[in-house]
Amino acid sequence: MNLLEAIKGRRSTRRFKDIEVEPEVIRELLDISIWAPTASNVQPWGFVVIQDKNYLQELSTQAKADNLERMKGIPRLEQYKASMENPNFNIFYNASTLILIYGKKEHLYTIHDCSMAAQNLMLAAWDKGLGTCWIGFSHGVCDSDSFKEQHNVPQDYKLVAPVIVGYREDIPLRPVSRREYPVFQWTGNNS
Ligand SMILES: Cc1cc2nc3c(=O)[nH]c(=O)nc-3n(C[C@H](O)[C@H](O)[C@H](O)COP(=O)(O)O)c2cc1C
Repeated sequence: MNLLEAIKGRRSTRRFKDIEVEPEVIRELLDISIWAPTASNVQPWGFVVIQDKNYLQELSTQAKADNLERMKGIPRLEQYKASMENPNFNIFYNASTLILIYGKKEHLYTIHDCSMAAQNLMLAAWDKGLGTCWIGFSHGVCDSDSFKEQHNVPQDYKLVAPVIVGYREDIPLRPVSRREYPVFQWTGNNS
């Protein structure tokens, strides 16, 4: 697969085969993610890898309760209430692996840096026949002080990118179109 095929072909994956992703494959993804550019080359990231479906199920339950609390009084989030209340909904879609990318808080561009690492990881995973999905719904729980303490994440790091990884089911994924994008201005010759 060439790079452009991966960029345009990648889709957020929400259905996975019931097989583990090998630790060496996960390690390769981490190794590739860190080739992202970073401001002043600070490379501000650190990772947590969770490969335990039962534990992910437990985290999903905690995250749904946490999200319901956070959603209170925010009308645009109402659309997600039913999913958060649904006991059968697993925010990690039964994926076997969750990779959490944390960034050192002191760096001004830590979110940008770690997000680019996440994109590298998602594209590399796609190239290997894996699927990924960024799970914003896990943010509150996985960025909490207690979670970080429990998983050896120093408190001067914050969560940037929670990404599930798994072998994707061979089913056509929902095509997601892209809207026309504005070019606010294009200055120069012939523009
Ligand atoms: C910051 C961020 C948070 C997201 N959170 C979730 C999430 O909690 N659950 C989910 O199913 N998808 C989540 N997504 C995936 C988006 O829904 C998806 O990227 C978008 O619909 C475009 O589809 P595509 O990734 O297939 O191109 C998230 C994506 C981003 C970038």
